[in-house]
Amino acid sequence: MRTLAVRASKTYDIYIGNRLLDEAGDYLQKIVGGNIAAIVTDDLVDQLYSGIVEESLVNSGYKVVKFVIARGERSKNAENYLRLLDFLSENKLSRSDVVVALGGGVVGDLAGFSASTYLRGVKLVQMPTTLLAAVDASVGGKTAINLKSGKNQAGTFYQPDLVLSDYSTFKTLEQTVFQDGCSEIIKYGMIASAELFSIIKEPLMPQLEEVIYRCLSIKRDIVAEDERDSGQRQLLNFGHTIGHGIEACSNYAVSHGSAVAIGMVLITRAAVKLGYCSDNCLTEISYMVTSFGLPASSPYTSEQLFACAAADKKLRGKKITLVIPEAIGKCVLKEMPLDELQHLIELGIGS
Ligand code: GLY
Repeated sequence: MRTLAVRASKTYDIYIGNRLLDEAGDYLQKIVGGNIAAIVTDDLVDQLYSGIVEESLVNSGYKVVKFVIARGERSKNAENYLRLLDFLSENKLSRSDVVVALGGGVVGDLAGFSASTYLRGVKLVQMPTTLLAAVDASVGGKTAINLKSGKNQAGTFYQPDLVLSDYSTFKTLEQTVFQDGCSEIIKYGMIASAELFSIIKEPLMPQLEEVIYRCLSIKRDIVAEDERDSGQRQLLNFGHTIGHGIEACSNYAVSHGSAVAIGMVLITRAAVKLGYCSDNCLTEISYMVTSFGLPASSPYTSEQLFACAAADKKLRGKKITLVIPEAIGKCVLKEMPLDELQHLIELGIGS
């Protein structure tokens, strides 16, 4: 097992290990305390892992209540948010009790947003069961629900009290869901670690613990420096501006990881053409993305993509901050007028 401490507005530990869920109750009693544990999960994860967690929590003296949502992005909505707040209230959760987010990014975001606002904040434990949530969403405190106007339009920065990352849960992931997490791992290599980029050329499964640890070490350092996303944290959006455009164009039929993979390749191609990085960078990232079974080209035209990407909430006025690669393991932030994004997308799509 590996451990990492995050030092942000709250200091907390991340435990990365095999079969940690079996001992969830012990960890919660030692680190978080409280009497009631409210598990928030989705219908698929519920069948697979709620039983293990519930048994462990009950054995450690918790009263356990459970709130189950339908799996998928559409569940991250205001109606479920309000239903969950009522559920916590009906079950008399107090500020010393704990919300347990057991699942992927959708569960983590919805449970986290509810935990941050119910009674102005109760304890929160993230138990990611997808690779993507383990290497990204469960750490760093971003919580959100979607509004009619778009993804993650209401949310908070609210750090968890503990993250239990049990990678034995990834064995039940569909391949495409696992690949979504791989896309974020490639991202970490590109923005901050040529060494990580190099080690993931070898098979991932035997080195999963090490890889998750390295990704979260990078995120931990970035979050410690810029918890509220006004500076360096934006590096974590490498490939995401165009990626969000692809997700939106497809009405979310293209998964987040696939969209980010395309976004990373397109922005790197544009960066090569503008002289920010070498052709080798593009060869490397294209190879990496395709070797993980992820797509590397856009199904949309530059006009379609620009229209969708320009609706992204991270725009600041008529300007946008983009993450531009300079080398494998080194990206920089560049603020530019919105019109330039259109030019970059054109360059990125062109062969
Ligand atoms: N997922 C990007 C971030 O946490 O900032």
